[in-house]
Amino acid sequence: MTKILAIETSCDESAAAIVEDGLRILGSKVHTQIAIHAEYGGVVPELASRSHTERVLPVIQAAMKEAGCQLNDLDAIAVTNKPGLIGSLLVGVTAAKAIAFSLGKPLIGVHHIEAHLYANAFEHGELQFPCVGMAVSGGHTSLYLGRSPVSWEVIGQTIDDAAGEAFDKVAKLLELSYPGGPIIEKVAMNGNPHAIEFPKSMLGKDSLDFSFSGLKTAVLYACRGKTARNSSDNQLIVKVEDAAASFQKSVCDVLCIKALKAMEQYNVKNLYVGGGVICNKELRRSLEESLKSKGLKVFYPRPSLCTDNAVMIAGLAYHHYLNQNFLGLNAGVG
Ligand code: KG4
Ligand code: ZN
Repeated sequence: MTKILAIETSCDESAAAIVEDGLRILGSKVHTQIAIHAEYGGVVPELASRSHTERVLPVIQAAMKEAGCQLNDLDAIAVTNKPGLIGSLLVGVTAAKAIAFSLGKPLIGVHHIEAHLYANAFEHGELQFPCVGMAVSGGHTSLYLGRSPVSWEVIGQTIDDAAGEAFDKVAKLLELSYPGGPIIEKVAMNGNPHAIEFPKSMLGKDSLDFSFSGLKTAVLYACRGKTARNSSDNQLIVKVEDAAASFQKSVCDVLCIKALKAMEQYNVKNLYVGGGVICNKELRRSLEESLKSKGLKVFYPRPSLCTDNAVMIAGLAYHHYLNQNFLGLNAGVG
């Protein structure tokens, strides 16, 4: 039995988890900073890292308590070391280094986005390879070709905003709360997704890259008029529900088209998705619908493992542990 403690502080959640053999969750705690960043409509990096310094040790202690685990029971310490906000990553990595050094146990660095995809293993058992992975979060929108739990090749990514970031910015201009994804999903339920025809940026016939900044500007102009420069200029001139539903449809359509294209280009049958935006039920429904007719399968984790957590970090870390893929105590971040 291999017990790994994982720490996650790459963005606005301080999280810790203990997982046995990559799949059995013994303890997991997440402290979210949503209340800190809500008034700014997005994550403020300096506030995020300050909060992590206060919360990282308490979440580790709480997760260890839940797991009924002593520090000496641990076989390795894992931490998200990329990608993320540098100041935030540094807090988790420094804590992990200190624990690993004091216990004389190996230190494992985990890629945050690869871990979002690995989160599917907790729902569906070990991932089947080769596969396509699609990570859709507040900071990333990327497609990967997965060959093993520790081998992921980027085959497409956003050239500007991430899909979650677009949800957050559009929510702000529709005067909705932060984070934007859940509230847009809720409001969209009472709107007409065909009310406004928003652009779907494809970036070329075979491209697997994404672009959401044009869509965000299109929503601004449609909702506040062509003279608007930011979310507070002019009155809203459309029904918020219709704008939310039409925007959500445009994002879902692009994600479905690109995911399908990636699976066809690389001739794979399984799509594993992850990241906060995958909580969106309309996105799940449209992915299922577009893949089913082609005989392809889509998998996603439960919502609590879609948003940032340390369970996914500990899970993927187990495969790095098996490969003896360890970090030195002088390792950097990002
Ligand atoms: O993966 P995550 O927790 O953090 C990052 O690594 O970025 O994703 C957070 C993002 C936010 O942008 C949030 O608005 C979005 O996920 N999100 C959603 C939903 N729930 C969270 N987007 C669309 N629909 C949702 N239901
Ligand atoms: Zn994330």
